[in-house]
Amino acid sequence: MLPPTTTEDTSAARTSRGRWGDPRGRRRHTRGGTSMLLLAFALGACSEDGSPAGNASGDASVDAPDSADSTPNGTGEYPLQLSEAGLYADILTGQFAQGIRSYAPQFELWSDGARKRRWVYLPPGEQIDTEDFPGPGGDMSGADYWHYPVGTRLYKEFSQQGRAIETRMLSKLGPYQWTMIAYQWDPDGQDATAVPGGLSDASGTDHDIPSQSQCRDCHTAMVDTILGFTAIQLAHEGDGVTLQTLMAEQRLTTNPVSVPVVPGDAVQRAAVGYLHANCGHCHNETSGTRVDLRLWLKHDQLSRIEDTPTYLTTVGTLTEAATEIATYRIAPQNTELSAIYARMNVRDPSQMPPLGTEQIDELGLATIRAWIDSLPPATPDGGTTFTDSAADSGPQLDAAIDR
Ligand code: HEC
Ligand code: HEC
Repeated sequence: MLPPTTTEDTSAARTSRGRWGDPRGRRRHTRGGTSMLLLAFALGACSEDGSPAGNASGDASVDAPDSADSTPNGTGEYPLQLSEAGLYADILTGQFAQGIRSYAPQFELWSDGARKRRWVYLPPGEQIDTEDFPGPGGDMSGADYWHYPVGTRLYKEFSQQGRAIETRMLSKLGPYQWTMIAYQWDPDGQDATAVPGGLSDASGTDHDIPSQSQCRDCHTAMVDTILGFTAIQLAHEGDGVTLQTLMAEQRLTTNPVSVPVVPGDAVQRAAVGYLHANCGHCHNETSGTRVDLRLWLKHDQLSRIEDTPTYLTTVGTLTEAATEIATYRIAPQNTELSAIYARMNVRDPSQMPPLGTEQIDELGLATIRAWIDSLPPATPDGGTTFTDSAADSGPQLDAAIDR
């Protein structure tokens, strides 16, 4: 169970705008320090026929608790009900609003087995800026960090046993400014209601709805918030909006020179793809995890598996974190000495990913194990041999096994 980390009060969101004035219900985010003007949740501006797609600017919308000191990637206004959040034309019949299109990333994020569906709305005539950007974290090459037009919205629905539990929305209000909100489906399945403070064990399941501050923990790790609607994730032949679709529709300011292909055999592709989707948003050169571990694939570093940031910063690389439970990030043919494997194989304060999951992803673990087992035995650190035998492995490796 992940307790919501904010003091945001769900019931307050249902009542009235004024409640947010209560300092008790306020969680201040001063990251970045600059105060930005709160932009209204202007769905009307995004609707293709020009008519407001809901009651967004009326009574049914509230100021988010953080709005007073809204920072880039902060949280703006949102409608209280999903029926008014621009996804559905008619939520009762399940008819989607104009311009809503489904898509799927080629590598999935593990969410304790929940089934997911995703949709995107791109404002008509606008392009995704795919030029290289010098961003907050420095070095950005390879057009792997997209910047989305204001008015972009993405939705992700989680269901268990065929029943929708929650639908999340990310809605771009201004440069680097996104509304992040989750809606819990009502018991009768007719609408869903905003839960800014998150909810543990939602709707009698073991599924936790993250709070807005938890949305930020994961989503602000990426330059422009979006994590799975990206060049590499959309480079597939499946249904819905793909990289090919976006290129054909001239939705990108610059098309990639070629469609990125994750290198390697099936085992290698599955492993680095898994790490990209599940870990890369925190572990890349722009994020502040303190460890120089890069699991975000870059499309100009895909010629061979050995050229991927993933391979370069893991295989045969010693761990950096003080609390580390294994000596190497990946020790070829040795999962016990491989921190990546060890951290995925626990659910405790050292677990990876650190949030969003309470159950070990056995399939994901098997994917990583298969890759580790397939790596040639190497001696990357000037002669250290990775072996299963503590006796052969020298004092440092002994210590790692003893821990
Ligand atoms: C544990 C990390 C984590 C948390 C917490 C989290 N997300 Fe995400 N989210 C992701 C990842 C990774 C993806 C991309 C992969 C996918 O679509 O499954 C994603 C995808 C999405 C998408 C589809 C667009 C995109 O960025 O690819 C939406 C919409 C979304 N999240 C909304 C939210 C909202 C709203 C919250 C808070 C209520 C939230 N998320 C909390 C990790 C997280
Ligand atoms: C929400 C952000 C986040 C996500 C997602 C995440 N990590 Fe981490 N990771 C961190 C932070 C912060 C640290 C540094 C603190 C620590 O060691 O716990 C870290 C540290 C690590 C380390 C230690 C590296 C070293 O050199 O000591 C490993 C290994 C690791 N993560 C693996 C993973 C794997 C594998 C995944 C995906 C299955 C993942 N992480 C997903 C935030 C994240």
